[in-house]
Amino acid sequence: MGDDTLTIIDNRTGQTYEVSITDDTVRAKDFRQMTVSEGDFGLMVYDPGFANTASCRSAITRIDGESSVLEYSGYPIEELAEQSTYLETSYLLLNGDLPTRAQLAEWTRNITFHTYVHENVKKFMEGFQYDAHPMGMLVGTVAALSTFYPDAKDVDNPESRDIQTQRLIAKLPTIAAFTYRHNRGLPYVYPDNDLSYTGNFLSMLWKMSEPQYKPNPILERAIDILFILHADHEQNCSANAMRSVASSHADPYSATAAAAAALYGPLHGGANEEVIHMLNKIGDKSRVPEFVKRVRMGEAGRLTGFGHRVYKSYDPRAAIIKRTAEEVFDITGPNPLLEIALELERIALEDDYFVERRLYPNVDFYSGIIYQALGFPVDMFPVLFAIPRTAGWLAQWREMLQDPEQKIARPRQVYVGPDRRSYAPIGER
Ligand code: CMC
Repeated sequence: MGDDTLTIIDNRTGQTYEVSITDDTVRAKDFRQMTVSEGDFGLMVYDPGFANTASCRSAITRIDGESSVLEYSGYPIEELAEQSTYLETSYLLLNGDLPTRAQLAEWTRNITFHTYVHENVKKFMEGFQYDAHPMGMLVGTVAALSTFYPDAKDVDNPESRDIQTQRLIAKLPTIAAFTYRHNRGLPYVYPDNDLSYTGNFLSMLWKMSEPQYKPNPILERAIDILFILHADHEQNCSANAMRSVASSHADPYSATAAAAAALYGPLHGGANEEVIHMLNKIGDKSRVPEFVKRVRMGEAGRLTGFGHRVYKSYDPRAAIIKRTAEEVFDITGPNPLLEIALELERIALEDDYFVERRLYPNVDFYSGIIYQALGFPVDMFPVLFAIPRTAGWLAQWREMLQDPEQKIARPRQVYVGPDRRSYAPIGER
């Protein structure tokens, strides 16, 4: 027997099987040969929530959840946050390598070229209710983009994939800013292509009557860092939605809308919004011990912004955000919720319940506090997550389409419903 194999004895039949192990992984399909009788479908693996199932081979992002490691194409997130820009990082995610000076200039030019949206997209957005949740507007509008770009259906064409990628990365900040202006009853601001990716976003959010908006360079850089940290996170719920929807060869706008919808949930990108609600509910640092006790007793729900499927140590993104927060607060003034958050972290990290389960602050624990200090309303938080994550979704999409092993996503199930029975007419039930 080879070293890289797994020997399995099926005690139902006494039969022995040997299956190969590659990259510390066995193939679920290899279990199908394990049958008990003629015509038996074969053994399946059962894994709700894919807690221990690799759905793809990927070269984009590596996480080592035991050691707080997050790398994009091998580059540590700490170095990217320190030295790169969001646009350069998105190029890295999509191409597997950092751009040369000329490649970055071309990439920046291409993105800048596509920042405007069709006037009918603007009209479409104006049709939303005045208090529509910005993330609902974003999901709907991104889906609607597919009707403006029917060429996007040509997913097998690399040139088409490139152009849709550029359009999506370029237009997301525009759509996001329009959702914000819509909620405030302010006129939408068109892109200013003389500004950086993040500077232009801030201009579309906050420009009033001045001829040109001048972003504060420290805040512009802080948002760029937050964008780098959120750009990709391997097979999370929304990346999985992107891959799953796009596996039917749906166009990338429809698939990105589905990914954004997955991100909207409070267990994923909606968590930073929930963190602010939770901190407001706690209300004061002195009430933290009581709140943590109630979480432990199962009386106050989960501690939002804590815990992660992959990180069983400090989320490296949370550590960087905590540092960035200080620079932002120097300009905006402190967020009073920070004091409660720091106390919550301190007490939770000493509490047996959290220690035993290895629950640490995740990226969402501190990001909302910065966003709030910057003046964003809480319902904009998931939108601020969706903008940068678009690069990650698109990188995952492109990788999936070019992977010859990938097929339409179609899991199996264990049927537990009634056995076959006859239809009873309504009068006999
Ligand atoms: N507060 C209290 N208990 C928790 C928490 C929490 N935040 N997270 C997990 N647990 C407990 C859970 O009750 C379970 O305990 P037990 O073994 O006694 O039943 C144990 O820890 C394991 O939890 P799990 O639900 O099996 O873990 P999971 O990997 O399925 O869930 C998670 C991961 C992120 C959904 C979960 O930790 C959670 O709900 N956290 C709060 C929401 C949150 O902050 N989400 C943002 C995630 S990071 C941003 C992103 O990538 O989207």
